[in-house]
Amino acid sequence: MATISSLVDKRVVIAITDSGICDIFNAFYLTSLLVQAGAKVKLSISASIIDFLSALDTKNFDGNNLSIGYALSSKQENLCKLVGRDTDLLVIAPCNDYAMTELLENLTCRTLTTDPPILIAPVLSNENKNIIDDLVQNGVFIASQLARDYFLKQKDNAKVVRPLEILGYIRMILGRSGKLAGRKIVITAGGTREAIDPVRVITNRSSGKQGYALAQAAIDEGAQVVLISTPTALVSPVGAETLEVNSADEMLEAVLTISVGADALIMAAAVADFRARNIATNKLKKRDGVPEIKLEATPDILAAIALRPEEKQPRLIVGFAAESQDLLKNAISKLESKKANLFVANDITCPDSGLGADSNQVTLLYSDGRREPLPLMSKTDVAEIICDRLAELL
Ligand code: CTP
Repeated sequence: MATISSLVDKRVVIAITDSGICDIFNAFYLTSLLVQAGAKVKLSISASIIDFLSALDTKNFDGNNLSIGYALSSKQENLCKLVGRDTDLLVIAPCNDYAMTELLENLTCRTLTTDPPILIAPVLSNENKNIIDDLVQNGVFIASQLARDYFLKQKDNAKVVRPLEILGYIRMILGRSGKLAGRKIVITAGGTREAIDPVRVITNRSSGKQGYALAQAAIDEGAQVVLISTPTALVSPVGAETLEVNSADEMLEAVLTISVGADALIMAAAVADFRARNIATNKLKKRDGVPEIKLEATPDILAAIALRPEEKQPRLIVGFAAESQDLLKNAISKLESKKANLFVANDITCPDSGLGADSNQVTLLYSDGRREPLPLMSKTDVAEIICDRLAELL
């Protein structure tokens, strides 16, 4: 796994309390993910897990970035001892009922302005829902799908919180005071789908990778992110409010509603430009011969945004231009005609760049005439640079 810029050199204490074997394995996996991401991790584990740990192969952990100690065995001073002055975050995962009760008692010894934030991944039982309420009221973050209401105002019935998801919560918490803190960013991703009949669609090769990377990068910088996505194989970043749409019409409606009052709209989606004029009610049958499908244009979402009264427009508009010829000429013409502040031009004829690839080679075109060509880099890096430039523009 590559390092994660927002986590490099962040000091994270992970306390692993006694729990089921899967939860404990997951906690070690989370530790490994954090170390690989570049964080400096201090592990605090209960005495009974020490034996278990000796059976694990920890050679992949970088000794400089990982230290191990005891924790949460008992009483007041334990929690305070766990975190040093330079700790950025305390994660208790898994956090059993006993630890949760103790944590609640210990919170009184915290001076909330100076102590680091606390994230817990509770081992959920029916008894501890009230404790979770109290912990949330005391500023503790909960990494739990069942308890998401408290944190993300979403309802979900699944119980297991996986390490990658906890990592997502960690990114969101540590990003809170980033360059985009307090900004609302709306991002579209994926390729829209236009129905031909109940089973067939017109779509394109967009994977959604660049849009999802942008959503994660914006969350890493503290933004409130709404991700309007077509169905993709990707997992939505923790912290993004995600809306699924299919057609250009659905995406248009979502963008028009959600972008009001937004600081930026990033149209990373590849919107299909054409749709069937008539959608067949029943599946088109082979025995009836090759159908003739009449096409018509879909709405141009960016153009529709540009036509809105100023108070309904997002402050900044970012578009993407995927071109196979005359890259800069076509992209500059789109920047102007769609009245955007920034256009990201990418040449889709390069095998490592554009639709479906993990990397991208783009040129940023600004409405004041500036051009910023970037070398070939991962879509994650492109996303970080775009968020950086957005923060400057805002
Ligand atoms: N876009 C849009 N609505 C459409 C088509 C595109 O809002 N119906 C947005 C895309 O999300 C992208 C930008 O406009 O940010 C440019 O999209 P692109 O497909 O490159 O250009 P088009 O305007 O569709 O023109 P063409 O396909 O002819 O190159």
